[in-house]
Amino acid sequence: MYPVDRAGQRLRLRELHPDDVDAVFAVYGSAEATQHMSFEPRSREQVGQIIDRATQSATTDPRTEYALAVTTQDDGDVIGFARLALDPHQPQGATIGFALRPDTWGAGRGLETVHLLLDLGFDGLGLHRIWGARSPLNTASARTLTAAGLIEEGVIREHVRKNGQWRDSVVHAILDREWPKTPRTRTV
Ligand SMILES: CC(C)(COP(=O)(O)OP(=O)(O)OC[C@H]1O[C@@H](n2cnc3c(N)ncnc32)[C@H](O)[C@@H]1OP(=O)(O)O)[C@@H](O)C(=O)NCCC(=O)NCCS
Repeated sequence: MYPVDRAGQRLRLRELHPDDVDAVFAVYGSAEATQHMSFEPRSREQVGQIIDRATQSATTDPRTEYALAVTTQDDGDVIGFARLALDPHQPQGATIGFALRPDTWGAGRGLETVHLLLDLGFDGLGLHRIWGARSPLNTASARTLTAAGLIEEGVIREHVRKNGQWRDSVVHAILDREWPKTPRTRTV
């Protein structure tokens, strides 16, 4: 599917553009936003490379990765980065990841972002299973995934290497039959 453009009540998921680099850097370059993620804060140059790869992979056929900008509906401000990647050996499954700029946290935008990713995966791509992995210390992510209907399934032990140490991940997942079709998101 290309281009992706999915609108919710306040937010929108759209394809990344090269000129989104500063906005994405405000998220991926932030020590606060990346504290519980699997990587250290990215440099602006690294964010540029991530966006280059995202725009290239967006037009591959078949498409296996959807790395997208999260924007506000009203003024188009890019407030975050959202990703859905098909599982390599089970393409009806996918992982999701998401991160918003810290000054936007705490007002329901994380939940709406996950709703939009699920809407893309289930309604847009016909997937069967969508899952995410979070740090055990990432309470905000746990609450957001749970609020969106993903069920905590278990722990992947020593899954991520960060700061010279192994870190477990907690897996949350949702199946297509568990995804309620409600009018909370609409597709454009
Ligand atoms: C995770 C993240 C997207 C949540 O965004 P947000 O806009 O603050 O989330 P929402 O306002 O939609 O809140 C969703 C739920 O999380 C809870 N929550 C949000 N921040 C929280 C925090 N710091 N501590 C505890 N709960 C928190 C909310 O109370 C709400 O739960 P509820 O519905 O049970 O009340 C945001 O914190 C973020 O970008 N973090 C950095 C990146 C990251 O960790 N991504 C996830 C990787 S797995």
